[in-house]
Amino acid sequence: MSDQNLSNGSFGDLPETRDESQIVIKDLWKIYGRDPKRILKKELRNLSKEEIQKKTGCIVGMKNINLNIEKGKFYILMGLSGSGKSTLVRSLIRLVNPSSGSITINGENITKMNHEQLLQFRRKTFGMVFQHYGLLPHLTVLDNAAYGLKVKGMPKGERYAKAMRTLETVGLKGWEDYYPGSLSGGMQQRVGLARALTNDPEILLMDEPFSGLDPLIRRQMQDELVELQEKMQKTIIFVTHDLHEALKLGDRIAILRNGEIVQEGTPEEIVTQPADAYVQEFVRDASPAKVLTAGSIMEEPHILLYAWEGPKTALTLMHSKKRKSAFVINKSRKFLGVVTTGSLERLLALPERPSGIPESSLKKVSTVTEDTILEDLFSIVSENPYPIPVVDENGKFKGKVTTDQIFESISPLEGDEHV
Ligand SMILES: Nc1ncnc2c1ncn2[C@@H]1O[C@H](COP(=O)(O)OP(=O)(O)O)[C@@H](O)[C@H]1O
Ligand SMILES: [Mg+2]
Repeated sequence: MSDQNLSNGSFGDLPETRDESQIVIKDLWKIYGRDPKRILKKELRNLSKEEIQKKTGCIVGMKNINLNIEKGKFYILMGLSGSGKSTLVRSLIRLVNPSSGSITINGENITKMNHEQLLQFRRKTFGMVFQHYGLLPHLTVLDNAAYGLKVKGMPKGERYAKAMRTLETVGLKGWEDYYPGSLSGGMQQRVGLARALTNDPEILLMDEPFSGLDPLIRRQMQDELVELQEKMQKTIIFVTHDLHEALKLGDRIAILRNGEIVQEGTPEEIVTQPADAYVQEFVRDASPAKVLTAGSIMEEPHILLYAWEGPKTALTLMHSKKRKSAFVINKSRKFLGVVTTGSLERLLALPERPSGIPESSLKKVSTVTEDTILEDLFSIVSENPYPIPVVDENGKFKGKVTTDQIFESISPLEGDEHV
């Protein structure tokens, strides 16, 4: 892997190539202009995009890109206009031919494929959604959605049945016989999405698909895409220059500048540890409340009681730790509720003391999972006097989040003047 850690790149810490990477991009360059090979020679390759353009008249589209993308991830490419996002996403299907480097998808090096192999591979593996919809105006919504299957040679009945199903998935049932021109922008983009999905591609490429839409429609489309992806679990490469869109949708984000990747990581890493001033500028308006999760700030509780513990033991423990309430779990660590010293004292006063802590003396409180973002925790802490228990999808106890922790984690770092 040492060849990935190129000293001339600004991107030193690359993730190791792992087996689960579906897309592996190595040392990828694109030079637009005459004789790109001469620029890839030693003297020129280390110059900046601007210097290369001044000296040679060629434009650097991608410079030494190294990237691994895992199957099923929602992967965001972000950067200012002209930073190389479209060049990169298009090179994945060789709508742009890289000048050097390799792209391996599902173990196949697509930079080595001939025209015929490439066509087949594209049809089998990819769906693409563009900013400007790219619909065929003289075909109905149904024919547009079924277009990819027609190209594949699927019989009419079969391809229409499939296309109807995807149109329904994207909320366009009843619009099959209309022409694209009579649909709103949002609906046309739904057709674009349906067309890409009808093929049931493994990898979905989306180049600023929502950029042309009104803010409200755009947000609605984002929500629906999130929901759809929960079900589909496809690999999605999504280009945007909108940080909020990136944070809402992405599992991981790569930030491009002048054809290079300047930072790659989870939304949380990008927002909390921007690599340089360019990234910082991007994330300036990002609220940590939208990216930090309960899992990233949770702590161990002071005490954790087991339901079979006697009320007397529990009370002694709570007194010794000066706690008025405690979380209670069962043998398999499932979270059961909160017990207070008051309710334990009432149990002790009963003529027949129970041997454990009965469910009836527990307060039920709202729980959250590790991926709950802080923004969603605010409303829960405000209506709840206890710390919030964090549980996994089976209800197993993982940790607690307190109001203090939430506010500490979103306050500015230079917090000294804030008491
Ligand atoms: N066909 C082309 N010929 C020459 N230069 C191009 C071509 N396509 C893109 N570029 C240049 O490559 C750089 C990256 O462009 P692009 O990938 O479209 O960026 P983005 O999608 O991030 O806006 C820009 O400087 C752009 O001007
Ligand atoms: Mg672009």
